[in-house]
Order: sequence, then structure tokens, then C-alpha cells
Amino acid sequence: MSATLTRRQALLSGARAAVGISSLSAFAGTSQDARKESTSSTGKQEPAPLSVGEYEGLALKRMSHVAWEYFTSGSADEITLRWNREAYQRLRLKPSVLVDVSEVDTRVHLWGQEMAHPILLAPTSTHFLAHPEGEVATVRGAGAADATMVASTLSNRSIEEIMQAATRSVWFQL
Ligand SMILES: Cc1cc2nc3c(=O)[nH]c(=O)nc-3n(C[C@H](O)[C@H](O)[C@H](O)COP(=O)(O)O)c2cc1C
Repeated sequence: MSATLTRRQALLSGARAAVGISSLSAFAGTSQDARKESTSSTGKQEPAPLSVGEYEGLALKRMSHVAWEYFTSGSADEITLRWNREAYQRLRLKPSVLVDVSEVDTRVHLWGQEMAHPILLAPTSTHFLAHPEGEVATVRGAGAADATMVASTLSNRSIEEIMQAATRSVWFQL
């Protein structure tokens, strides 16, 4: 079983590895939930996404071409879009080996609001293109991830509708 462990399965099992399951046989025992798959609109099983780039690939299969073009494009010559990607690629995670991680606290306080982690959803418009419930679905997803959503002025749903589905503070881009 351990001989068939792929790099993808090992990475998806990373959380378990982080809490101390290090042997391949232990990994093999968890490979079923590590390979959690989603069912596409065509009913076909798809592997769970491993990176942001892979989420893009799944979106491409589900969205109309127009929606895909809208969400993946930037303004004008897309110079800033490229700069942003390059900036993220320059970031490095500093590995902390043999450090006690039994109590990790990612909370931050911003403008009187406590957040579980410093990840916010940047304001983006026209979520109807991505989901029939528009920004109401987005705020539900943000809530599930303990993330703060920044609602765009150009949202398809009203701020009242978004707030009804919200489980935490929502910021408004004006
Ligand atoms: C499809 C799309 C729609 C966006 N709509 C808005 C918007 O309505 N209001 C706004 O302030 N920024 C908008 N932005 C800009 C984003 O909030 C963000 O500043 C930008 O994408 C840069 O961040 P990133 O490098 O994480 O993508 C939009 C960006 C994208 C890609």
C-alpha cells in the first residue's frame, strides 16, 4: 500500500503529518480521506484541489467561458496582475523544525475585530457569474473558512441579503 502513495496523497495528508504521523504505513492508512474527491456537474469524480492553481482548473470546467475570462483577467495590459503573481512567488515560508506547534494561534486584531487568521476575501464583483446565489454563497463560504469577506460595491446581491447569510463581520468596499 505504501508503495503506491503518490506525492499528491502525501501532501494532502500533510495535516496529519504535521501532528506527528510520519511513517508511510500510517500515511497509507489515511489515504482514503486524503484523496477526498468532489463530483463535477457531469457527475465525474475529480481529485481534491491541492493548490490555488488547481482550484482555477476546477473553476474552468464549471464556468462559462465569459465568466472564466472575467474572473481570470486583469485591467488593461495585466501588468499588475503579473506583478502580484510574481510577488507571491517571491514569498518563502520559513520552516521551523523542532518547534512546539501544539498551540498555534493565528488570530489577529484589525480595527476592533478579532479574526481567526489574517485571510480576507478581496472585493470582487458580479458573483452571479460564478454561482446562482452570488455573494450570498460567497459569504457562506467565507464563514465556513472563518474568513472575512469584503463585499464589492458591484455585488449582485444587496448588502442586506449578504448580511443575512453572514456569520461574522463583513467589510464593504466603497
Ligand atoms: C474579477 C475581479 C473583480 C474585481 N472586482 C473588484 C471590485 O468590485 N472592487 C474592488 O475594489 N476591487 C475589485 N477587484 C480587485 C481585487 O479586490 C484585488 O484588489 C485584486 O484582484 C488584487 O489582488 P490579488 O492579487 O489577490 O488578485 C477585482 C478583481 C478581480 C480579479
